[in-house]
Amino acid sequence: MKLYKIWALLLLLKLIQPVLSFAQNHNPVKREHLLIDTGWRFALGHPYDVKKDFYNGTGYFSYLAKTGYGDGAADPNFDDRTWRKLNLPHDWAVEQGFDPKASLSHGFKAIGRNFPDASVGWYRKSVFIPAKDLGRKISIAFDGVFRNSIIWVNGHYLGTEPSGYHGFEYDITDYLNYGGENVIAVRADVTIEEGWFYEGAGIYRHVWLNKTDPLHVVPNGTFVRSKLENNQAVVTASVTLKNEALDNQKFNIKQSIADADGKVVASGELQNLELNVLTEKEYTLTIPMVKPRLWDLENPYLYQLLTTISKNGEVIDEYKTTFGIRTIRFDADKGFFLNGKRIEIKGTNNHQDHAGLGVALPDELQYFRISKLKEMGSNAYRCSHNPPTPELLDACDKLGMLVIDENRLMGITDQNLAYLKKLIIRDRNHPSIISWSIGNEEWNIEGNITGARIAKTMQAFAKTIDTTRAITAAVSGGIGNGISTTIDLLGYNYVATKNTDEQHKKYPAQFSWGTEEGSTVASRGLYVTNMAQHEIAAYDTRQNENFLSLEDGWKHYASRPYLAGMFVWTGFDYRGEPTPFGWPSVLSYFGMLDLCGFPKDNTWYLKSWWTDKPTLHLLPHWNWKGKEGTPIDVKAYSNCDEVELFLNKKSLGKKRMEPNGHLSWTVNYAPGTLEAIGFKNGKKILTDVVKTTSEPTQITITQETIPVANSNIAILTVDVRDVSGKSVPTAVNDIDFEINGPAKIIGVGNGNPTSLEPDQFIEQVSVVRINNLKEKAISAIDDLSKLTTATTDWDYAFKQERTQEFGKKVTALIYRGDFDLTDWSDQTKITFFYKSLGKEQSIYINGKKIAYKLLANKKGNAFTLDRSVLKAGKNTIAILAIPILKVQSWDNINTDPGAIQVLKPAAGWKRKLFSGLAQVIVQSTGDKGEVSLTASSNGLKPAKIKLKL
Ligand code: GAL
Repeated sequence: MKLYKIWALLLLLKLIQPVLSFAQNHNPVKREHLLIDTGWRFALGHPYDVKKDFYNGTGYFSYLAKTGYGDGAADPNFDDRTWRKLNLPHDWAVEQGFDPKASLSHGFKAIGRNFPDASVGWYRKSVFIPAKDLGRKISIAFDGVFRNSIIWVNGHYLGTEPSGYHGFEYDITDYLNYGGENVIAVRADVTIEEGWFYEGAGIYRHVWLNKTDPLHVVPNGTFVRSKLENNQAVVTASVTLKNEALDNQKFNIKQSIADADGKVVASGELQNLELNVLTEKEYTLTIPMVKPRLWDLENPYLYQLLTTISKNGEVIDEYKTTFGIRTIRFDADKGFFLNGKRIEIKGTNNHQDHAGLGVALPDELQYFRISKLKEMGSNAYRCSHNPPTPELLDACDKLGMLVIDENRLMGITDQNLAYLKKLIIRDRNHPSIISWSIGNEEWNIEGNITGARIAKTMQAFAKTIDTTRAITAAVSGGIGNGISTTIDLLGYNYVATKNTDEQHKKYPAQFSWGTEEGSTVASRGLYVTNMAQHEIAAYDTRQNENFLSLEDGWKHYASRPYLAGMFVWTGFDYRGEPTPFGWPSVLSYFGMLDLCGFPKDNTWYLKSWWTDKPTLHLLPHWNWKGKEGTPIDVKAYSNCDEVELFLNKKSLGKKRMEPNGHLSWTVNYAPGTLEAIGFKNGKKILTDVVKTTSEPTQITITQETIPVANSNIAILTVDVRDVSGKSVPTAVNDIDFEINGPAKIIGVGNGNPTSLEPDQFIEQVSVVRINNLKEKAISAIDDLSKLTTATTDWDYAFKQERTQEFGKKVTALIYRGDFDLTDWSDQTKITFFYKSLGKEQSIYINGKKIAYKLLANKKGNAFTLDRSVLKAGKNTIAILAIPILKVQSWDNINTDPGAIQVLKPAAGWKRKLFSGLAQVIVQSTGDKGEVSLTASSNGLKPAKIKLKL
């Protein structure tokens, strides 16, 4: 070979080397969907005090001026070591105390406009991205942050998401350090509310990293629907791909359907496809399936669609979509049909929060809550009034619960419609969803022409995305006008003020149902109304003329086949809206179940008429000491034909039950046993007994069932029993809890709407800044002559620039400042997170040596400060340092000595019983080992339980 040819070959090799190394780097691993919920740092910021908001947005050039200029806490180099460590999901609102100046609709938690110090939250986390990921597309997906979140990665501003309910995803491919750490910063601001109910604060849903090939299925990029005829389904599977490679891509798509055992039962393929650079396209395949198993309420059978994208025989993306095969249909005269069978909708409305946890629910809790509603006979769930957490919908799919998925705000701008589209695209594969709701009680427009126009536009728009579900809107007034003249599926909120028959006659083709009904208010386990104490008897009494009782509401729907059924306001109590009260009531009284999921008596009314299970329930309890001889209202909820009541074995009469009704007696109180016997076809089939108890003597803990394999949480019910083992329904004991083993308590509650006890007992972190930092030149860093002298004539630190000139004059310096310790005790852990001020330095606190000749450390140093070094009030700090000098005039020299973290350990967990019950929620750390919970209270025998986790 001639020499020039060898030379040319070498040159060619040199030129293609980057291409080769890129190809070697290119990672053949398919899609990764990585949960990044653990290891976050959190601190409260401030809506307008920049110092308290970590100087974010204050730079001469800040993040909106130049890309990558995230400043303050958004700067990747920001020192967050003093911040609290936590895992997601997290709700900082629930951690706060209650305050009458706080928002009634948010349950008086001390956040929001009047509490600027608790209304901005910052989260930071570092993630390692391996070098081999170079060449993949990487994005960060937030399922929901409340609210107005701003996100940065490595100081790059990614975007602002005003909604606290919509998920969002940012492409971060080009911002990342491959083979290094990458800093995510999140700022959320809850100064302004979106709803009129408790909404929480912070990153309360999951966060994910998604990694894909440049040619990939877009987020929520599949849509599966099916047609069913004669035992044969035709599944239409669409997938949207995006080519984010910088050249055209040729590929094949395979769509395979796997049954619940993972066996592929049908598939289809599209071959020789090509997608241009940076384009997106939807591909649709129809796949026939013989004898599919249907999704229904009793057997919610789920299939999985596996979408495989391959290129040159290599699989480059795999995307899984869970779906169900079922038919749904609304009929204007006959209501709702699932798989051809009429189903009466027995629904509930629910917000997102639970006792102890606010809106930061571990996934298992969604299953617990849905199972509690199903137990009551409910078959439908309305996500009032916002797009829900994705795992809630998974729970509805898996447990068999129909869903109305609801949009937050009505409107027709690009932003409004984009939100509606986002909701439908994210959720359209859930078999549980039977209707999209475009809005709720939009009082300003629902009864007028503006409302009619908006609803018409939104409805038409929704149908361009999904034609398989009916579009509904919940309307509270103006029936006959506005939205009610144009919506396909009219949702009535409260029929007491409406004539549904008239509307049906006028609009015979319109589907209809009750989106809110049976709005009753009750305190669980209380049977005497005491308005001064904010206590409402748990009998099903009508609130006022605007609402029917639960029973009358249900009777209205049950007797009209053209109405598809109704949704009770509400399934669970929630924080906020303590109607008819204000402070100090902090929870709603509407729930069939309280905030913990403990049933109020109304649940047995529903059980009686919403299930076929023989049911008999007596109320109230029979502990009326001091009321001997006084008449007490006794009621029985039952689906028996007849019920006979006995007091201390003496019959008080047998009564016939009317369908959808209840039975009542007035009984003069005498302690003992109240017994009901239920008869069906003349035969005794059931009894229910309430007995007078004596004082409690012992505590009992029961672990609840959660319908999830390998639950990471345990839900415990705590009650107290008398000497004969009867649970005491009126008990209000204070109970202390202690957990042992690899788990922690994450929340406590008791369902009492007036309880202002903490929901959580967590460690308190406060950060103490070093003030009045002054400096003076010294001869060397072991020159202690100025350790305690007066500093009145000293310069404030860093007044003089750290130029090379400065370095010639000053070889060593002493910095002195002070910090205030106010709130500390023996248990408090005090850590000084130091940031190097010198190339080498020694540190003294109150004259005592903390570090000697410490070399500069980019990551900083942490010193746990011994109690003997510190004192309450003013403390002094001295740092003797060899100065760090600028090499270039634009170099930044650290001027921050760091800060002192005061960590107050969590107080012991405790809760008062309310009407005899309290709830404790425990979460495993994931480590192996036995976990036990102990409950104790003065004068009672404690309880200890080994938890199944
Ligand atoms: C309805 C409203 C619900 C809730 C309820 C309380 O008007 O849609 O969100 O506020 O009233 O009564």
